[in-house]
Formats: sequence, C-alpha cells, structure tokens
Amino acid sequence: MSTVEVHLEDSTLVDELRKDVRDGLTADPKWLSPKYFYDALGSELFEEITVLPEYYPTRTERALLEDHALDIAEATESTMLIELGSGSSEKTKLLLDAGVKHGSLKTYVPQDVSISALEGAIEQISKEFPALEVNGIVSDFTDTLQNLPSGNARTIAFLGGTLGNLIPDERREFLKAIADALDPGEHLLLGVGLVIDPAVLVPAYDDAAGVTAKFNRNVLSVINSRLGGNFDPDAFEHVALWNAEDEWIEMRLRARAPQDVHIAELDLDVHFDAGEDLRTEISAKFRPETITAELAAAGFGVEHLWSDTESRFALILAGRVSES
Ligand code: AVJ
Repeated sequence: MSTVEVHLEDSTLVDELRKDVRDGLTADPKWLSPKYFYDALGSELFEEITVLPEYYPTRTERALLEDHALDIAEATESTMLIELGSGSSEKTKLLLDAGVKHGSLKTYVPQDVSISALEGAIEQISKEFPALEVNGIVSDFTDTLQNLPSGNARTIAFLGGTLGNLIPDERREFLKAIADALDPGEHLLLGVGLVIDPAVLVPAYDDAAGVTAKFNRNVLSVINSRLGGNFDPDAFEHVALWNAEDEWIEMRLRARAPQDVHIAELDLDVHFDAGEDLRTEISAKFRPETITAELAAAGFGVEHLWSDTESRFALILAGRVSES
C-alpha cells in the first residue's frame, strides 16, 4: 500500500519562498536558500550531478550503504525508516532491501519538498517492495519532524550530505528537533561529507561538463517562474569556492555586469553591481570528532561511523540516548 500526504500546501510554500527571497535579496551579501533549487528541472539536474565523475559523494555513500545496510538493519531492528529529503530514493533501496530481508522493516516514509521526485520514487519503491507500506510526505524537512508517524523502532535517515546545507545554528536546531522526535533507543542514520583536499572538493561543485553551473542558475529560473522575476540566468557566472575557515563549499552566482532585476510578485527591485555575488548554497564538510560532538550535544550517541578508504564521506549510525 502507498500514500502521499501533502503537509505543505502550495500556498504555504509560496509564502515561505516569498519571505526567503525577499530576505535574501535585500541582505548584504545577498543569498538564496538552497531548498529552491529543486523544482522538477532542478531535481533532474541534481540526479545528473550525482553521476558526474567529479561528484564523489553519491557513489561513495552508495558504496558505504552497500557494505553496511545489513549491519544497520541488525543494529537498529527498525520497523520504520523515515527518510528526510529522500529525492529519488535511489540509494535508499539498499536499506529497504536489507531491512526487508532482515525481517524487521514494515514501513518506509520518504519525505521531500519535490512532489515530482517523491511521486516517482514512491511508484518505483512500491513496485520493487510490494510488502512494504510506503507513506510519502511532501513538506520541508525542517518542519516535518513535528508530524512524524508514531512507532517504536524508528530510524530517521538523512543522507547525501544534506545536513551540510544548513548554517551551524540551523544545524544545531535541526539535530535537536530530530532527537526530540525520537524515543530513546531509536536511531538517526546520517550521511555527511568529510573535510578533504580542496583540489578534490571544489571540482565536485564545479564540474567540467557544466551541469552544476546549470543547476545553480536554475534557482533564478525558479524565482522567475514562481515570483514573476526577470533574472537573466546567463548574466551570472557559476562560482564554487572552499571556505577554509568555516569548512564549507559555497556556491555563488556572480553578476557578469551591473544589472537590475525586478521581482513582480514581491514588488521588489534588486540591483547587482558588476562582480557582485549571490550566495546560493553552503555545503559544509565535517570532521568525525566535530560531528560526533554535535550529535552528542543534540542527544545522540554515535554507535558506528563508517567511512571510505579515502575518508571522503561518512555514514553515521547514532542512537537516541535517554534523557536523564
Ligand atoms: C544534495 C545538498 C547534498 O551539497 O553536495 C550538489 C547539493 N549542490 N552540487 C551537496 C549539490 C551542488 C548536494 N546536496
């Protein structure tokens, strides 16, 4: 059986988009939230990114899931897997397969902001795992956690390194919210990129084929179509840089020439100087010690931390510890 629940009405999403875009475009320096990358085209472009030779995170995480899915099923005895930001659910199949084979897993709850990605994933998963109940939730992951389905051996998966998209304050709050949503003994399965050589890191966000550049500029098209903007995406250069102090990748769009943009539905005029940057994403990378400490502060004990031989990516299984 499968269902899709829409927790965020389109109108709520638009209200949030309006507020975020106004806040970001009137700030100095200017910024936009990375969650607006993922319209239907953006979700497709991201899927293209995941198979680029330079973009190591997806295939590295997949190999870790292949190696450890059964360990995860055995360690958690999970009956329900809730996946935040599930996207295409492509890698998740490894977890579902292991959970079903192990015998404990009954329900999969994928959550994503992209209706198109979620619907496609649910259809596929239901076909491949007819015995699983699949209950999709369309919403924003930062406010999904209050409405989690109840259960007694749940695992929340947050894969792909998406935790790195949150600024440190948001990240702390988010990890706390996950911990609050879980009972002692339940689990968080987290995939995070590790701090590595910028010579490997930067090309992953600035590929030779230009797919990431397209993905980055697409956020301007999203604003054009949803808020009546008149951005010329080609008037911006794709920039990816490693911020060594904060240990995160920043994606930016740099105005090639001075320009004025009008966002009709916000009644907003925005001026860009030549060379001015609009920050569109941070993608923080982690060190095993620091992410372990952040998890501990939120109420999680790390039970396993699996990493690839080059230490590029980590898959972390953490248990909710009892409140004392
Ligand atoms: C989906 C957020 C994990 O930060 O690596 C890929 C998004 N941005 N290339 C990441 C992304 C540019 C990706 N996450």
